[in-house]
Amino acid sequence: MNPIQFVHLTDTHLNAPDKENLFAKLQLADKVRRVFSHIHQSGLRPSFVLITGDLAHEGDSADYAYIRKLVDEGSAMLGAPVYVILGNHDHRAPFREGYLGETSSEEAYYYSHTIDGLRLIGLNSQIPGHHNGMIDDQQLSWLAEQLSTPAPRGTIVAIHHPLSTVIDMPGYDSLQNVESIRDVLAGSDVIGIMAGHVHSNHVGTFHGILSVAASGTAFGGELAEAEHFRMFDACSYNVVTVDSNGVTVSTIALPTSNAEIFRFPLTALAEQR
Ligand SMILES: [Fe+2]
Ligand SMILES: [Fe+2]
Repeated sequence: MNPIQFVHLTDTHLNAPDKENLFAKLQLADKVRRVFSHIHQSGLRPSFVLITGDLAHEGDSADYAYIRKLVDEGSAMLGAPVYVILGNHDHRAPFREGYLGETSSEEAYYYSHTIDGLRLIGLNSQIPGHHNGMIDDQQLSWLAEQLSTPAPRGTIVAIHHPLSTVIDMPGYDSLQNVESIRDVLAGSDVIGIMAGHVHSNHVGTFHGILSVAASGTAFGGELAEAEHFRMFDACSYNVVTVDSNGVTVSTIALPTSNAEIFRFPLTALAEQR
């Protein structure tokens, strides 16, 4: 069985370059371009690229049109399709308008594609106006229906909010209905769950399924000390290899200054809902 490789990026937090906010000033688009170039120059030929949400930082349709242009350039460079999902900092209507070129709508964005025998299911855990996420009943029913037929090489589920416990902070529950999702995934052909949101790498299992939260391209997040969380200059991507032995996740970190960008009290993180 030939190995399949794909690249997992997350949390690009982009805005169009003319926007007057901190995230636009950080020139995060350059990081995305660097990542695509690095993948290309490394000789990797991924079957696809996955970006697991927080594509924009509170973006409008112009921001999403800009992101689409960047993504299309990366896709052309690699000769591979790029699939995206939405995170809590994304907005459905401008995404549909600016990124998908559709009429504006608040409809959840989710899909299933099978690439080289590996099925990718992208879910919409983002709830308009909330930091935390959930998978609504409509998506859960759809997911159960999809998973009732196995894919030749198994299934990867992409979801912005991680299913596993990844931050040891009281009150920080990023996904509201973990149990319902667990019930749908039980006994299925899902071999991996790819997430973002926490801006740091976490690899573990969710009821026996590989569960990964990736750090992302925009910046890293970590405890500064016992009372504060900090965001710092960082940029990385994961290469996921699926072969007859299982699944391997390799993190590639590009050089950055690692300088602190901002910090905030842990209590503020726990209060986000
Ligand atoms: Fe994020
Ligand atoms: Fe997020």
